[in-house]
Order: sequence, then structure tokens, then C-alpha cells
Amino acid sequence: MFPEYLSLMNPIASSMDRSQILQIVAEVRGLERQGVTICNLTIGDFAPAEFSIPEGFSEQVRRSYVRNETNYPPSSGVQELRESIARLYQRELHIDCDASWVCVASGARPPIYATWRMFVGHGEKSVSFLPAWNIGYYAHLNQSNHHFLSTTQESNFHPTVEQVQSILPETQLIILNTPLNPTGTMIAEDVLRGICEAIVEENKRRKTRPVMMMFDHVYWMLSHDSYKHAVPSVLVPEVAPFVIYIDALSKNFTGTGLRVGWSVLHPSIQPKMATYLAHMGAWASRPEQHATAWLLQEESRYLQYRIDLRRGVKERLDTLYNAISKMQKKGLPISAIPPQGAIYLSVRFDLIGKGFQSNEEIRIWILQKARVAIVPFQAFDMPEDSGWFRLSVGTSSVPELQAAMGRIEILLTKGE
Ligand SMILES: Cc1ncc(COP(=O)(O)O)c(C=O)c1O
Repeated sequence: MFPEYLSLMNPIASSMDRSQILQIVAEVRGLERQGVTICNLTIGDFAPAEFSIPEGFSEQVRRSYVRNETNYPPSSGVQELRESIARLYQRELHIDCDASWVCVASGARPPIYATWRMFVGHGEKSVSFLPAWNIGYYAHLNQSNHHFLSTTQESNFHPTVEQVQSILPETQLIILNTPLNPTGTMIAEDVLRGICEAIVEENKRRKTRPVMMMFDHVYWMLSHDSYKHAVPSVLVPEVAPFVIYIDALSKNFTGTGLRVGWSVLHPSIQPKMATYLAHMGAWASRPEQHATAWLLQEESRYLQYRIDLRRGVKERLDTLYNAISKMQKKGLPISAIPPQGAIYLSVRFDLIGKGFQSNEEIRIWILQKARVAIVPFQAFDMPEDSGWFRLSVGTSSVPELQAAMGRIEILLTKGE
């Protein structure tokens, strides 16, 4: 008799959970197969029909193939790309770095995974803040002693300096993400400065390994005009050796399927990141690396692209936000946080204890009656049934969003 398949595996793998967002997406696809049209605001992706990658990129990929650039790339990434990324960081973020800081990979996820493996041993303490994207899965895979600290709307869903100070002793890795997936909110500059100062102080005191900070800013080009994206090593230069920046083409250039990402980290630790990624075989393909280098050198092209992308994203987020604000003014039980960055809007349905016991009940109600698919904050490890949801706009047109909001308004007005 063949053993039950889960018992064949390492328990870390057999107890690994599937992303809750993907479960909801599977449910949506099932309804769509039955002929139901759904406005799908679940997935953190871009529909190429709504948002295309920069013009000229695919031609550059093609030229690389014609030049037969099909062998292994260097494990840190092709030199031209590493130099382009370093120049981008110097020019736009004012980070003092060069190519020796850069390590290219197939998207943001491989350096995220490698950062966990490099800095947190089995059972060692790691810290992140809720709500947050996917951290729970990495903590599980790494078997760390992970501490989730909840944030609130009052702190814009980012940690406070006091929260970080209280948790720093014995912590090996602290994770920040701004603009934040799922809330679309940005950390305030003075808060980030305070957190960086606390890390520097903690590391001065330590006799053991320092605490490191993973700073995931994969949406940094998508911050809206009135919100400035601040970075640790500029606010507090002494923190630079302890920061691992995580970045990618995925969101900033809507190329989620292209699989080009990178980490920027101190040259004393960069070679180990390259070695880790090489053992995983997590290189980005060579033609995509060349095309990315070309793109980052084409400054006026990508700056114009960014203006257009931000406009398209902002228009969609504003469509949702304005419709929700109008509903709120009419006394309907819904509110939202004004858009700040990324492709997400945080929306609260004030229905818990008012006919609904859980976010899940609200989600199913909105899906079945208004045909709008949304993701509860539980999918981002926030356990409370708070009525908060993430709405993602990268795959929908403005008219689709307007129609979806119209259906939600009717549903909230009639109550059934
Ligand atoms: C905050 C954050 N970091 C990293 C990633 C992963 O990016 P990639 O697709 O480049 O691996 C995502 C994807 O949704 C994200 O939201």
C-alpha cells in the first residue's frame, strides 16, 4: 500500500499552507466558468490589457536571443544591469552604493527567501507587522520564532517606533514593507528614522550577531505624488550595513511574469546572497536582464512610463475611493483609507455584529450578491474579524470598477 502522500514529506513542507488569496482566486475562476462575470479585485497583478510593460522591452529581449545570449548569467546578475540598478538607486533614492551592492534574481521572492535563510537560524527570533503579505509562509519555511505585531489604522498600518524598540532584543530579522501590501499605506519618514536609529543603537549594544532589516519596497515607484518614499540608509546612514533592500521589475514596471528582481545589500554580505541564489538556481534569465539594464538606462523613457503608470493606477484607486466616500456620506456602512501607494485600497465594511459575524461571511456576500471579489485582511495574517479588506486595481478598467462600486452600493442600500 502506498503511504498517504503527506506522510512522505518533510513536515515543514507537508504543513505548508497555500496562499489564501489563491484559494479565493480559484473560487472566482470557478464562478467565471459557470458564466458569472466577476469584478476580480483579489490578485496583486496587472492585466496586460490594462497595463503593459514599457515599450521596447520585448524588442530588447528578442535582440538578446538573436545574439545567442542563452547561457548561464553571472550569479550576481549581469554587470551592466547591476551598474544600472546602482545608478538608479543613487540617482533617485540617493542611496550611496555601487554595483558591488547589487544581486539580481528571478523576482523579489528569491532574495526574500534567501534573506531569511542568511540571517535567521532555526528557532531564532524574527519580527514583522500585521497586516502583511506572505511573511507567515517564509517564517514557517524558515522555522523561525516569528513574532507578528499588529498595527492599527491610527499608525497607518505601519509599526510605531515604540513597538519596534520593545521587540528588538534578541531579534535577528525585522521586516518592513512600504508602500504596504495589503493596505496601500506608506510609512512616515519620522517613524522610519526612529526605527533605523533604534536598530543602530541595538547593534551598538550587541556582542552577538546584529539585527538586520529587510526593507521590501517593491512598490516604491508607485507612491502617489503627495507621499514621499523614504529609505533607511538615507535617513540614518549608519543603518546601511544592516539593511537588505528588496526590489523588482514586477510591480514598478508591471512585469510580474518577467521575473527580474534584485536585492541591494552591503558588499560584505552581497557575495553570500549571490551564492545562496546560485544554489537555488534563482537567476533571472539573461535576455530579461539585458533588457532591464537597457530600460534603466533609458531614463526619459522610463520616467514617462512611470508618470503614465501612476496616473492609471491612481485613476482606478480614486474611482474606488471616491465611490466609497460617497456611500459613506450617504450613511452606508463602508469607508476607505485615501490611496497613498501601490495598487491597493484598504476598505472597511462596518458590518461585523450587524448581521455578519466574520470577514469571510462579508466576502462571500459581496462576491455572490455584488459579483465583486475582495480579500479579507485575514489573508495577510491579521486574525481579527475587523471588516477590513484589500481591493487590488491592477486587473480592472475604470468602467469595470465604477460598475462594481454601483453594485456594492445597491447591495449595501437594500441590505440583501
Ligand atoms: C510586498 C511584496 N513583496 C514582494 C512581492 C513579490 O514580488 P515578485 O513577484 O517580484 O517575486 C510581492 C508580490 O506581490 C509583494 O507584494
